[in-house]
Amino acid sequence: MAGSSGGDSAVGGPARHIPVLLAEVVAALQPAEGQTIIDGTFGAGGYTRALLAAGASVVAIDRDPDAIEAGRALETEAGGRLMLVHGPFSHLDEAAAEVDGVVLDIGVSSMQLDEAERGFSFRADGPLDMRMAQTGPSAADVVNRFKAGDLTRIFGLLGEERHAGRIARMIEKRREARPFLRTLDLADAIETHIGRKPGEKIHPATRVFQALRIYVNDELGELAAALSAAERVLKPGGRLAVVTFHSLEDRIVKRFIADRSSSPAGSRYLPEAQVKAATFDKRGGAISPTPDEIEANPRARSAKLRVAIRTAAPFRAADPSIFGLPKLPEIRLPVER
Ligand SMILES: C[S@@+](CC[C@H](N)C(=O)[O-])C[C@H]1O[C@@H](n2cnc3c(N)ncnc32)[C@H](O)[C@@H]1O
Repeated sequence: MAGSSGGDSAVGGPARHIPVLLAEVVAALQPAEGQTIIDGTFGAGGYTRALLAAGASVVAIDRDPDAIEAGRALETEAGGRLMLVHGPFSHLDEAAAEVDGVVLDIGVSSMQLDEAERGFSFRADGPLDMRMAQTGPSAADVVNRFKAGDLTRIFGLLGEERHAGRIARMIEKRREARPFLRTLDLADAIETHIGRKPGEKIHPATRVFQALRIYVNDELGELAAALSAAERVLKPGGRLAVVTFHSLEDRIVKRFIADRSSSPAGSRYLPEAQVKAATFDKRGGAISPTPDEIEANPRARSAKLRVAIRTAAPFRAADPSIFGLPKLPEIRLPVER
């Protein structure tokens, strides 16, 4: 599994988010005057700006209050063609109706990653936080309260960390004396415990950090729910474009599009009413960045874009079983603070 958008951010300098696969996303959405497109992951507004420039109106969602706040000037500038919505994209069908396009650019933004205080990265020390929405249980809550067995599942399933069990047991023991509150403390403890082979490129804590981030933000559940929401909100001919950064996410998009673009043939055992018509028309396979884009923006290296076009068939009931989501421990911690 490759790193997410910016797993290895550099420290220092103002954070700037370079939109990934921008030309390809615009080509997929074909924005035009009179259209309304939902940008489910506003971030720094890279996609939204391009959609506005093409004449479309945009409903842009982000669960991070900082991203929404930073977008207010653009909202004013757009003169009524941009509406910013603070919230999770799993509810994107509550923000608009009958739209021409939905775009999702999954993961964290460079601003989130590079700001030490958000606690996404161990390149600079910060609180062990990782909450995009800035509410709910943090990474520190998970690390300091979950049993070793649950941590093992999270690190193994969401980080594909082969030392998941060893790291989880180390955490359980160490936190008795001193809880993990800072990103560097956790990263150093993992490095000390697991060791690092000479020449090993990625830091031994990378996969655990990725797993915690995905878990704390329920990133896979959010994505699965957003795809069904997109199916409900897109008008016939409307376009869905999703950019992902690692295989767990890409698999969810791929499975959804495969499921929805197939229409099982009826049989005499299946009443006509139960034969489900395809709700999407799949457009090609995954699109990856060009070598030039990767050279200019290494954060793009594992990106994949998948595109599908909504048919006129009625939407289907959301069915979580099609995604093959990993079975994760439930968060049973105090949620609000
Ligand atoms: C990779 S950035 C998007 C960058 C954007 N396309 C641009 O060009 O500037 C992802 C953004 O989506 C937001 N996000 C991630 N998951 C979300 C979710 N489930 N609901 C709403 N926003 C989410 C993050 O807070 C972040 O700001």
